[in-house]
Amino acid sequence: MNKPKIALIGGGQIGGNLALLAAQKELGDVIIFDIPQSEGMVKGKALDITQLAPHDGYDVSISGTSNWDDLKNSDVFIITAGIPRKPGMNREDLLDINLGIMKDVADNVKKQSPDSFVIVISNPLDAMVYAFHKVSGFSKNKVVGMAGALDSGRFRSFIAEELNCSVQDISCMVLGGHGDTMVPITRLATVGGVPLEDLIDPKRLEEIVNRTRFAGGEIVKLFGKGSAFYAPAQSAIEMAESYIRDKKRVIPCASLCEGEFGINGYFIGVPSLISSNGVERILEFELNDREKSELNNTLEAVKKTVEETGL
Ligand code: APR
Repeated sequence: MNKPKIALIGGGQIGGNLALLAAQKELGDVIIFDIPQSEGMVKGKALDITQLAPHDGYDVSISGTSNWDDLKNSDVFIITAGIPRKPGMNREDLLDINLGIMKDVADNVKKQSPDSFVIVISNPLDAMVYAFHKVSGFSKNKVVGMAGALDSGRFRSFIAEELNCSVQDISCMVLGGHGDTMVPITRLATVGGVPLEDLIDPKRLEEIVNRTRFAGGEIVKLFGKGSAFYAPAQSAIEMAESYIRDKKRVIPCASLCEGEFGINGYFIGVPSLISSNGVERILEFELNDREKSELNNTLEAVKKTVEETGL
């Protein structure tokens, strides 16, 4: 039986970590693609990760390329191609440059592997995943954006720090767009089954929610150059693993809503079940008035960036 073929479009900070994590989990053979000027860099990363295998014991092949033909018949694409945010730049500022790149990537993915499952990470995420879907014409279950998994993970880590308890026992979701308007659903968050709102007072919880909203920017500022890469890579790997191994995990992802939560025609963060069919279904639930208004607010922000793409 053939191993799954995992194509990483963009072999920068996130791409390199995706390659390492995919190899360590033995998700499949990994091929890292980047522009010709960076072909040496991705070939070098591939060799380095190959030479880590004897220490870690994984049996997959890892290679680098700048030739689209090498990506023929890939099963999964994870796209980070683009430029990352610079200090003072918001995700929307990236739109123009990354949109041109995404259109080109979508054309090539469609040509090489029309049946693949595609996870988009490039920012501004909500517009990039929309653009990929629109340009490729892929069915909606085969295209998804990575945002909610990362934002929820950040929220979980801040709660664990606050309560000095294991992050493993914290369950929560962050819905909406991947920007400052994201919607952490504190009402349904639990710590070992105990409602979060019974454990942290509202004022402090609001501070943690705000830190979550700006968590990406906090890291950008600290780095001075580039944006977060370890947690984004792991978040996308969880989604790819659920597809490849048919785990049916329920992960907040930017999925195409067609009526769910009253949203129509936009990719936005919602609880999504990922199986070997891709995004098999969106799990809908009743929102309270505050959550509805916050989701409306984030939807407006998503619509605005999507409109700027002109697609
Ligand atoms: N095709 C393939 N790769 C490309 C293309 C293209 N047309 N254009 C740029 N790239 C590559 C760059 O050469 C670079 O190696 O994409 C890679 C991006 O890597 P980094 O600059 O290190 O960025 P990274 O931190 O990995 O983030 C990637 O994810 O979270 C988002 O905002 C972030 O949009 C950014 C993306």
